[in-house]
Amino acid sequence: MSKVTIISGSPSEETRLNGVLRDVLNHFEGIGIAPEIINVRELPPEALIQAKFDSKEIIEANRKVEDSNIIVILTPVYKASYTGVLKTYLDLLPQNGLEGKTILPIAVGGTFGHLLMIDYALKPVLTALGATHILKGAFILDSQIKKLGNNRFELDSEAKNRLVSSLKSFHPSLLTV
Ligand SMILES: Cc1cc2nc3c(=O)[nH]c(=O)nc-3n(C[C@H](O)[C@H](O)[C@H](O)COP(=O)(O)O)c2cc1C
Repeated sequence: MSKVTIISGSPSEETRLNGVLRDVLNHFEGIGIAPEIINVRELPPEALIQAKFDSKEIIEANRKVEDSNIIVILTPVYKASYTGVLKTYLDLLPQNGLEGKTILPIAVGGTFGHLLMIDYALKPVLTALGATHILKGAFILDSQIKKLGNNRFELDSEAKNRLVSSLKSFHPSLLTV
C-alpha cells in the first residue's frame, strides 16, 4: 500500500504554498490515499535550530518519512534557493533517510528566473539524503495563486494543469491503495 508524506517548508502561516498543499491533498485523497503532512513551521523551533535529533516531534516527523514510499516536498523560493526553514528539518533526517523513496519537489517562486532552483539547490540535498528517484517536479509562480482570504487560495488553470501533470508522473504501481 502506498504511503505519502508531504513536507511543507514555508515559514509563513498564510503562505500561498497552502493552496498548493490543498490541491496536492485533494489529488491523493481522490485516489484513496490519505497523506501525512509535515508542516516544518509547526515543528518546535528549538529542535530545528539546535538540531535536537531526540525531540519527540522530530522523531515523529521522521517516522512519517520512514513509513512513506512517496515524499512530496513543497517550498517557496527564498534567495534563489529553498527555504532555510525546510533545510533545518532536512538536516534532522537520518543519513540516507530518503533512500528508496520517490520524491516529487514542488516550488513556488516570484520569478521563472529561479525555475532551476529545484535542480541546482534542492536536488543535490535530496541526493545526499539517499534519494535516487526524484521526479521532475513543478515550479509555480506566486502570481498564479490567488489569495481568497482565510488561508484559502486558488491556482490558475495553467498552474493547476502543471501541478496535476506532475502528480500524475508517479508510476501507477507506486499508487496502490
Ligand atoms: C525572503 C524572501 C525571499 C524570496 N526570494 C525569492 C527569490 O530569490 N526568487 C523568487 O523567485 N522568489 C523569491 N521570493 C518570492 C517567494 O518565493 C514567493 O512570493 C513565495 O513563494 C510565495 O509567497 P508566500 O509564501 O508569502 O505566499 C522570496 C520571498 C521572500 C519572502
